Amino acid sequence: MKKRIIVGITGASGIIYAQRVIEILLTLPTEIHLIISDMGWKILKHEIKVQYDDFTELIKDLKNDRKVQADVIIHDNTNLFAPVASGSFPTHCMVVIPCSMKTLSAVATGYTNNLIQRAADVTLKEKRPLILVTRETPLSLIHLKNMVTAAEAGATIMPASPGFYNHPQSIDDLVDFAAARILDHLNIEYPHIMRWKGNNAG
Ligand SMILES: Cc1cc2nc3c(=O)[nH]c(=O)nc-3n(C[C@H](O)[C@H](O)[C@H](O)COP(=O)(O)O)c2cc1C
Repeated sequence: MKKRIIVGITGASGIIYAQRVIEILLTLPTEIHLIISDMGWKILKHEIKVQYDDFTELIKDLKNDRKVQADVIIHDNTNLFAPVASGSFPTHCMVVIPCSMKTLSAVATGYTNNLIQRAADVTLKEKRPLILVTRETPLSLIHLKNMVTAAEAGATIMPASPGFYNHPQSIDDLVDFAAARILDHLNIEYPHIMRWKGNNAG
């Protein structure tokens, strides 16, 4: 069975991270269940400066000339009848990327008002990996407390904060670094990852 992964895109800055993770997942034997919130869609158009009219154009662009192995299933964020809304539909993991503080608060309180929130809630209750890639800074006490609550319930909070020890030369390098670490936590093997091998300076 292909690895079944739910990808939620919410209305935080950092859409480029989602773009990169999806581009990589497309080249692997995966089944991607993609859900984009209304604000996620608006910020996607704003940050990656495209005027997609619908998801088909977006996916076509993400596929580009890549050797695509993945199946992509797109769900409407209002459709709580979608398979990923139920724990009886087996999935491997879910990533919310980027994850807004609003969606984080929904995860922390179990308030599931749309499909991304419901799928995240289900992923937690089924004890499957849930990665929340936050971007907000600075963090209020409310954000921090919500992060603790979500982490205690089993979520992995992964702020999009790239490292600099591999000497990134471009924005792409920074994004690749974050994407690689996210894939690690989704238990997705992706061999083209630059890993720290140590040095003698320490
Ligand atoms: C340009 C722009 C950037 C935003 N960036 C963030 C952000 O980085 N983090 C965040 O929590 N909210 C951010 N917001 C606010 C969210 O979009 C807003 O709270 C929204 O209700 C989130 O809804 P969603 O989680 O359903 O997508 C941003 C809004 C705009 C217009």
